[in-house]
Amino acid sequence: MPCPPDPSRVLRVARQGVEHDVVPLSSNPWKSFLSFLYRQTVGATARRSRGPTRPEHHGPPDVNLLHESIRATQSLDGWCSLEKAQALADLVLAARPACIVEIGVFGGRSLIPMALAARTYGGRVHGVDPWSKEAALEGEPDGENRDWWSQIDIEGVYDRFLIGVRRFGVQDTVRVHRAPDTTAIREFAAGQIGILHVDGNHSAEVSRRYIEQWGPKITAGGYLIMDDIDWRSQAETIKLIESMYEPVRRDKSWAIYRKPVPAVESRPPAAA
Ligand SMILES: C[S@@+](CC[C@H](N)C(=O)[O-])C[C@H]1O[C@@H](n2cnc3c(N)ncnc32)[C@H](O)[C@@H]1O
Repeated sequence: MPCPPDPSRVLRVARQGVEHDVVPLSSNPWKSFLSFLYRQTVGATARRSRGPTRPEHHGPPDVNLLHESIRATQSLDGWCSLEKAQALADLVLAARPACIVEIGVFGGRSLIPMALAARTYGGRVHGVDPWSKEAALEGEPDGENRDWWSQIDIEGVYDRFLIGVRRFGVQDTVRVHRAPDTTAIREFAAGQIGILHVDGNHSAEVSRRYIEQWGPKITAGGYLIMDDIDWRSQAETIKLIESMYEPVRRDKSWAIYRKPVPAVESRPPAAA
């Protein structure tokens, strides 16, 4: 597994399922990948806008302002680093999916950066989290994690998250599903999700369930971001992901994968 991805791997992944095969090379493969993706999605929007249904125009995002706001999201409750928040927002901006889902929101430290990016083009970010101790401890053996969750004021975290959504002005972009993944999943159709960020319960059983049940909801060519890939409890789940998805970017504790686009079957024309 390349870590960080070697340029040839990223470019091969970036080419799949798209009509161009010329990808700019730069010293940073992640930046090359994003700019390629951005041209694909903005180009596609421009092509569609010449058609009969013109999508709402949001104009190009003010990247400096966006970066400043993302820096400010570090004050929210949670664990998302500035580097990861930036990478999430960059991916959203480049891929521009209509539907983004996060499993495991907590204080919104990873969800709000994605929402700030999605707001620039009218995308929607769904936050799935029951904000309950029972869900956080499902499948958790006794230990440090159990002690930590049993002491936390989860209602306070939820209230501060809602305040954060308003403070960052993303209330029209975010839809909150205060429910466990097993309930919220009913609201999403197969292939509907363009980006899925998985950062919920990290036990072996639950993390596997997220991938088995939510994986089919990701669009072909869409993205899966997995957090805490270095946790022992998630090792089997990471193996499962890596057997099904293409690596795009890998950090020490999180990784971005792409769902492969199935090859188009070439069939002989039907006999008349
Ligand atoms: C590690 S925190 C999320 C951190 C956040 N994404 C960040 O970057 O700061 C994990 C969250 O997963 C939530 N969670 C636990 N079980 C869940 C489930 N079955 N479905 C959705 N969320 C769940 C917990 O309530 C908790 O808020």
